[in-house]
Amino acid sequence: MTKVITYGTYDLLHYGHIKLLERAKALGDYLIVGVTADDFDRTRGKINVQQTLMERVEAVRQTGIADEIIVEEYEGQKIDDIKKYGVDIFTVGSDWRGKFDYLNEFCKVVYLDRTQGISSSEIRASKSELRLGIVGESSVINKFVRESSYVNGIKIIGICSNNKNCESNVFEKIKLITDDYHLLIENVDAVYVVSHPTRHYSDVKEALLKGKHVLCESPVSLSVSETEELYSLAQSKGLILVDAIKTAYSTAYTRMILLAKSGKIGDIVSVDSVCTSLRDIDYSNSDQLGRVWNSISSWGPTALLPIFQLLGEKPDSTRIISRIGNKEHSYDEFTKLSFEYAAAVASAKVGKGVKSEGELIISGTKGYIYVPAPWWKTDYFEIRFENERENKRYFYQLEGEGIRNEIVSFLRLIEHKGIRTISESLSIAISGIMEDFHTGKTVKELK
Ligand code: CTP
Repeated sequence: MTKVITYGTYDLLHYGHIKLLERAKALGDYLIVGVTADDFDRTRGKINVQQTLMERVEAVRQTGIADEIIVEEYEGQKIDDIKKYGVDIFTVGSDWRGKFDYLNEFCKVVYLDRTQGISSSEIRASKSELRLGIVGESSVINKFVRESSYVNGIKIIGICSNNKNCESNVFEKIKLITDDYHLLIENVDAVYVVSHPTRHYSDVKEALLKGKHVLCESPVSLSVSETEELYSLAQSKGLILVDAIKTAYSTAYTRMILLAKSGKIGDIVSVDSVCTSLRDIDYSNSDQLGRVWNSISSWGPTALLPIFQLLGEKPDSTRIISRIGNKEHSYDEFTKLSFEYAAAVASAKVGKGVKSEGELIISGTKGYIYVPAPWWKTDYFEIRFENERENKRYFYQLEGEGIRNEIVSFLRLIEHKGIRTISESLSIAISGIMEDFHTGKTVKELK
């Protein structure tokens, strides 16, 4: 019996795929089809594959051509599969010609002519693209524009910004550069709000009232009532409002949270996160009230993320201690947030005028998780135990600091697919901490 194997993504299965599968089958008696898992595919630079792995496997199954379907999960798996299944022929389309010659050592390699005029990418592109506008001044705009180019189905068509932090080549590629937010909104389907946090509420509200979806850099607003109002406005209009904390979308971070929740380190007793960056503060880049991105609004949402995700969004008590660098600009150089829960404690230290080790430590009754600095953009973490031989290291590819996945997740929600990574209640809880800080509740100032 001649065994044949072939691999592919098979997103939005089309006749090019079917013809390939038929010809692959005809090369032998038994056909194994490897369907690429989402994460593996992302490492090849394809993102926003439209269908889930299960949907793609199901579509291949329904063709009735494959005798066996497997999932391709890691680089180097092909050699393992060829040996494991006793494969005689490896085949793929001619777009891969030459790329798999190294497999000749293990079996025969055949490249089949690709069917002209059709591909998953073209089908995806023919679906209408989401036209996105950006409002704000943060330097994250540069990264965001760059990362959006890796995602299918989105086009950034306008920026409303005072220009200061944007790289000139970013502006070159964007059609509409304006300081008129109304004009921007008129021309887009969705807005990424990265303006000063004091403007988030009005910027988000205006976009929602005009029927546009919103991705808003966290915090969504500086008070619980305003954030709640915005989420209910979005819901009443059938629009998507998403809180954007890029770390929440990084693969290493999400796996780490799952492992912590699975009981690997026993009961979680303490979560301690530190996020700092020492940079000159540009007071000229302040909002109308003279406020700059202070430490709590720049770093607070990220530092709070693991605490609220692991211990819950409603601590029994909260205490905030700040070193205020500039009162007039409401600028905290450093803030320590301490939380008490019934069975755990947590702390978050944030600073833009104080430097520290940006690590995350989750302490449990059996061991602890250590995420080295800068933990908010890590591809690596460790689970450590008393007996260090039991320690485990985890590594996951980090693409675009999480921004790429954040954009994909936003698109999926707009298409009514997928679930929220940052729940509304988490987003509201973050706004609550901002409110505590700005109203002076639970805040102590260091001399
Ligand atoms: N294939 C083919 N003819 C096409 C499209 C794909 O023969 N018109 C083959 C590929 O060469 C590969 C298999 O089908 O062996 C699975 O391809 P896949 O990458 O999943 O599909 P594409 O349509 O090429 O996807 P994309 O546009 O995302 O690259």
